[in-house]
Amino acid sequence: MKIIVLAGGLSTERDVSLSSSAGICKTLLEKGHDAFLLDVFLGLTYDPNRLEEVFTLPGHGLEIAKNISTAEPDIKAVKASRPDQSNCFLGPNVIELCRMADITFLGLHGGEGENGKLQATFDLLGIKYTGPDSLGCAVAMDKGFTKHIFMQAGVDTPPGMSLHKSAPDKSPEALGLSFPVVVKPCSGGSSIGVYIVHTEDEYTDALSKSFRYEDEVVVESYIKGREFACGIIDGEALPPIEIIPKTGFFDYTNKYQDGATDEVCPADISEEISDKMKELTVRAYHALKLNVYSRADFLLDDKGNLYCLELNTLPGMTSASLLPKEAQAVGIEYGDLCELIIQKSLE
Ligand code: DAL
Ligand code: MG
Repeated sequence: MKIIVLAGGLSTERDVSLSSSAGICKTLLEKGHDAFLLDVFLGLTYDPNRLEEVFTLPGHGLEIAKNISTAEPDIKAVKASRPDQSNCFLGPNVIELCRMADITFLGLHGGEGENGKLQATFDLLGIKYTGPDSLGCAVAMDKGFTKHIFMQAGVDTPPGMSLHKSAPDKSPEALGLSFPVVVKPCSGGSSIGVYIVHTEDEYTDALSKSFRYEDEVVVESYIKGREFACGIIDGEALPPIEIIPKTGFFDYTNKYQDGATDEVCPADISEEISDKMKELTVRAYHALKLNVYSRADFLLDDKGNLYCLELNTLPGMTSASLLPKEAQAVGIEYGDLCELIIQKSLE
C-alpha cells in the first residue's frame, strides 16, 4: 500500500508529531508498505534510511530537518515559496502527494492537524486519512465544549469552564470553584501551558501564561489522584494504563523524557474500576462522535471517583506511547496496530 505519514505542522506538539510519525513510518516500511514521511510544514519527505534522526528533533526541528529530508531543503526558500504559509497549513504539493497515496496516516498532533480542519479538507478533496472524522476531532479538541458534552452524557469530569481572553477577569470563586485549580489552554496538548495553582497570585500568573498559547483557557478543579489513560479502537476499550510520574504530574517533561515516568499496563486497579474506566471511555467516545481510535485520559481520586479529562483524537504513537502499550497488553504489536488503524479508517 502506498502510505503518506503526515507529520510536523507548527503546533506546539511539532516535535512529538515527528517522533510519532517516524515510528509509524518505520514500522509500515518494515511491514512492506511503500511509506513516506512527509513534513506538512516543509512539504518534503524525510530520508527513509534516516528516520531514527527524526525521532528526537529538538526545538521544532526545522534546522535539523533540512539535513534529513530527501531534498535537503533550504528552509528560507521553502518559506519563500509559500508566501501565504502563515495562513495556509496545507501547501499544494502536500495535497498532491497525499492524493497519490492509498491513505494518509495522520501522525500530526495538536493545532490544525487534530482540530478537524485538516480532516474536513481531506474529505472535500477525496483524500483518505486515518483516525476520527472532522466533527469528532473538532469537538474533542475543545476542552470547554468537551466538558459540556461529558456532563450531558453522564461522564464525570472535573467541574470547570472555559474563559475567553476578552472576558472580564473571573476568579475561581466567581466560577464556583475553590483553590487549587488547573488552568490550561482550551485546545492544547501534551500538557503544554498547564498550571496547577493554589493562590490568587498564581492564578493571575497562570492565566496570563496560558493565554499566550490561545485566546481561550479552561479553569477546572484540581483533582488529586492517580493518572490513567484508556485507549479505544473501533469502539472497543483497551486495558487502562497507569501513569506514575517520579515527580510532579504527567507534564511535558514527564511525558517525553526517558525514565521520568513509570507506566503500568494493565493498571493495578480492581476489575470494577477498570471496567468503569472502559465503560466511560466508550461512552465518551460515542458522545463526542468519534470513530476509528482515540485515547481517554482519567484521574482517580482516593474516594474511588473517576474523572475523564478529555479524549485525544490523534494520540501519541511512538512504539513507547500509551496507546501502543495498551494494545500490546492485548497482543497487538505496534506494526499490527498501525495496520489495524489503517484498516479501520478505510472501512
Ligand atoms: N497530545 C499527545 C500527543 C497525546 O495525547 O498523546
Ligand atoms: Mg491531550
